[in-house]
Amino acid sequence: MTDDLLARHRAVLPSWMPLYYAEPIELVSGSGRRVTDAQGRSYLDFFGGVLTNMIGYDIPEIREAVERQLATGIAHTSTLYLIRQQVELAEKIAQRSGIPDARVFFTNSGTEANEAALLVATNHRRSHQILAVRNSYHGRSYAAMGVTGNRNWSASGLNPLQVAWLHSGDRVRGLLARLSADEQVDAAVEDLREVLATQTAGDVAALIAEPIQGVGGFVHPPDGLFAGWKKVLDEHGILFIADEVQTGWGRTGEHFWGYQAHGVTPDLLTFAKGIGNGFALAGVVGRAEVLESVPAISFSTFGGNPISTAAGNAVLDYLIAHDLQANAARVGAILADGLRAAVGELDCVAEVRGKGLMLGVEFVRPGSSEPDPALTNRVFEAARDGGLLTGKGGLHGNVLRMGPPLTLTEEEAREGLAILVDAIRSAAGVAA
Ligand SMILES: Cc1ncc(COP(=O)(O)O)c(C=O)c1O
Repeated sequence: MTDDLLARHRAVLPSWMPLYYAEPIELVSGSGRRVTDAQGRSYLDFFGGVLTNMIGYDIPEIREAVERQLATGIAHTSTLYLIRQQVELAEKIAQRSGIPDARVFFTNSGTEANEAALLVATNHRRSHQILAVRNSYHGRSYAAMGVTGNRNWSASGLNPLQVAWLHSGDRVRGLLARLSADEQVDAAVEDLREVLATQTAGDVAALIAEPIQGVGGFVHPPDGLFAGWKKVLDEHGILFIADEVQTGWGRTGEHFWGYQAHGVTPDLLTFAKGIGNGFALAGVVGRAEVLESVPAISFSTFGGNPISTAAGNAVLDYLIAHDLQANAARVGAILADGLRAAVGELDCVAEVRGKGLMLGVEFVRPGSSEPDPALTNRVFEAARDGGLLTGKGGLHGNVLRMGPPLTLTEEEAREGLAILVDAIRSAAGVAA
């Protein structure tokens, strides 16, 4: 019984771990892009467990790869022993990363991946000064939280790093909001120079940035901004870390990695979520000379274990064989165009944004840039009532987020689009 489970959840799990929906749901089975809850209600899933069920539910190739590994009797060995699946996956990721002479270190979560990236960057540069971006989210450990620019997720002021903050690519509010794309790039680069000169001791270790800010409501800077930043970083020898936890593996449709929209190559790249399609798998890729900057033993008991890397290999092979990046571009365009046409002009919609199958709708009070989280929540609940799971996000909780599995079909995209448009129109009180 869900009600009973909810009471038990509340009695034993911490209240700061949020549950979606006024009446939270328990998902008990799934297939393809659809899930069923404990009440037998079925939903089309446009959030995929926060962009993590990247291929979808119950995919035979992934299930069979994991079952084959389980059948060997070995679920775990520790990384003190050779793990064939891990080496194979590292080879594939290194080759696809775009980073020359790449090494891969596997972890269990995006938080740990960013923690590892920050460790090697600070060691490599012998500096604990970091540049981070406002409205970012990088994880829940001290260092990852320390570079997170979102008050809602900043549970502690304790920070092992010294952080200076850059502007995000927010087009709705903030100092750079209403500039043209070129002006925004120029202003952001000028801001970086000023931040370096005024808020740091010069010898900064790294800049960490998400190509599209996930938790931040799919805010992203104009293409090319990272190149403007990188030019300045290179003048100072500062490393660039691309957090690809949400944007990786072709989700943006146009590229395999989000950073590629900017014509730069990062020194370090972190990945998580989708590569395990639900199995705990994450990591950091970096140039050997940077990633080798660990002057002590460092290992992760579970990182890159035989089960998760069996899944990871199957996920990556499936993704490439089915060219899911192209699917993300094609099906994402149906969703984005459909949303823009149907609700883009409503005065409660500030922006329909994102790339590929990573799309957000930002809601404001009509005719202003004042966030409207209450309306967002009504849309969110109405979509669920209509049989569609979505996500929420943004600094003000006023962005509806869509990050469906990359296997989403055109029919499913149209079906979800219709539910979304109805939900937005009914919640906003607009006649159909
Ligand atoms: C961009 C980004 N980085 C890092 C993380 C942290 O990943 P995890 O929750 O696996 O620790 C997240 C999680 O949402 C994320 O979106």
